[in-house]
Amino acid sequence: MKSTTRPLTAPGTTRVVAPRRAVARRPGTREQTVENPLRAGLRLERVPDPCTIVIFGATGDLTHRKILPALYNLRRAGLLPPESTVLAFARRNYSDEQYRVEMKDAVGRFSRVPLEPAIWDDFAAGLHYLQGEFGSVSSYRALEERLQSIDVARGTRGNRLFYLATPPSAYAEIVTNIGKVGLQKEGKGQGWARMVIEKPFGHDLDSARQLNAELDRVLAERQVYRIDHYLGKETVRNLLVFRFANGIFEPIWNRRYVDHVQITVAEDLGVEGRGSFYEEAGASRDIVQNHMLQLLSLVAMEPPIAFEADALRDEKVRVLHAVDPDWTEERVRQDVVRGQYAAGWVAGKEVPGYREEDEVDPDSSRDTFVALKLEVQNWRWADVPFYLRTGKRLPKRATEIAVRFKRPPLMLFRDAPSEPEPNLLALRIQPDEGILLRFASKVPELGLDVRSVNMDFTYGSSFSREAPEAYETLILDAMLGDASLFTRSDEVEAAWGIVTPMNETWADWDDRNELDTLHFYEAGSWGPEASDRLVERDGRRWRRL
Ligand code: BG6
Repeated sequence: MKSTTRPLTAPGTTRVVAPRRAVARRPGTREQTVENPLRAGLRLERVPDPCTIVIFGATGDLTHRKILPALYNLRRAGLLPPESTVLAFARRNYSDEQYRVEMKDAVGRFSRVPLEPAIWDDFAAGLHYLQGEFGSVSSYRALEERLQSIDVARGTRGNRLFYLATPPSAYAEIVTNIGKVGLQKEGKGQGWARMVIEKPFGHDLDSARQLNAELDRVLAERQVYRIDHYLGKETVRNLLVFRFANGIFEPIWNRRYVDHVQITVAEDLGVEGRGSFYEEAGASRDIVQNHMLQLLSLVAMEPPIAFEADALRDEKVRVLHAVDPDWTEERVRQDVVRGQYAAGWVAGKEVPGYREEDEVDPDSSRDTFVALKLEVQNWRWADVPFYLRTGKRLPKRATEIAVRFKRPPLMLFRDAPSEPEPNLLALRIQPDEGILLRFASKVPELGLDVRSVNMDFTYGSSFSREAPEAYETLILDAMLGDASLFTRSDEVEAAWGIVTPMNETWADWDDRNELDTLHFYEAGSWGPEASDRLVERDGRRWRRL
């Protein structure tokens, strides 16, 4: 098959990629070619084995918006071996050609870079469709046959990446049927088999345990890749580099110096046509249980013994276990605020309240906003509050982690007309990706006034290259067998252990008709007043974003 992308080394190997300047120059010397490419700072790019990526739910929104554009971009970057094949599996009746036409349109609309016809044609030659029923074993037999013929025709060597992009209600039967036909088997000339699973991973602790048990019956944990797309975001990945590739932050990253931490995931969007999903989930299950608790674990974790999947996940899960999950009703009342947006204005547009959205109960008590205070009870963090807030229909989209440091022990400049704000480190996850450090400075004048100033790093001005989409990073890692950025079963359960008691308390309040436990906020505001009170009662306030 003709490939339009860069030539690749043998799949499954590491390819050396030259940086812009592959020569070293010492002052006063002529440019020299460096013998050892690694010394010259050449980058190592990992290329996965060829495989067949089987997408279950291949006609759904996620496949259109995220999965296919990500695969196309990996192909474009030369990171998807030319033999690699995508086999779309879904209920609808499509021919390969019809499916390709629809996906070309999707990639054209949702890819982060414009579609290049020659690369698309090359990619589309390995894009196939198989009509099947998730619940029928005979569909999986047909899938097995198709996979075998793809192995022969395209050289995918028996390697399979199964991607569950269906509604979660279909997960169990797909996994069970894969097991019945034995598609998950590895070894002895069969290649590898891995399974990527989308969130939501259960809706409470019990259902997550049950789903883990169902997976466990068919697959080994090392074959399971639970996606939390926040972990694939460049800025989230950079959190680890920021903390552990620098020597100056880690010594102050603890209760001695840190006053508190704020994590915000704000969205200006509403439920965007996903009313029935949101009625089941709410912000606590949709965002806190996964994205926010992942951010919390990355900020609070101890240095892992190695940059390797299990070492990393061991440390993250320890943080989640150290979060005090002893949510008595009184504590939920005191430390958690659930809110719901009422009608208002966002970005100059009038928007309806949550209860007026399609497929939403007009009396719904579902949380579209959550603010909470958590404590990580270990030696590093005891008594340092972690305040988390997330909501839909807030004034803007902004995700940030702010670490607020303690004031200096003694203020020497007591006579200065103004007192500077305490030091703050803000890690901007999105948008305006970057890192800001706030510190005190003397105002340039004859007197002595002290003010806060910012040192601000932005990715945009320091790096000229565009960051990959989270899904590109994650799918590539799954093909490479690197599970570092995927959540392990114990992690998922630990996170549900934090969120479930809170959800159960809310359900009890709803049963008892305790209406004042749901706080309304106007769309376009920063959430209910109760959220401000949550931090103000500790003498703190939310950062203005
Ligand atoms: C998803 C949630 O996991 O994350 C959505 O289901 C939310 O409700 C989205 O809008 C936010 O992701 P991002 O990448 O836009 O911050």
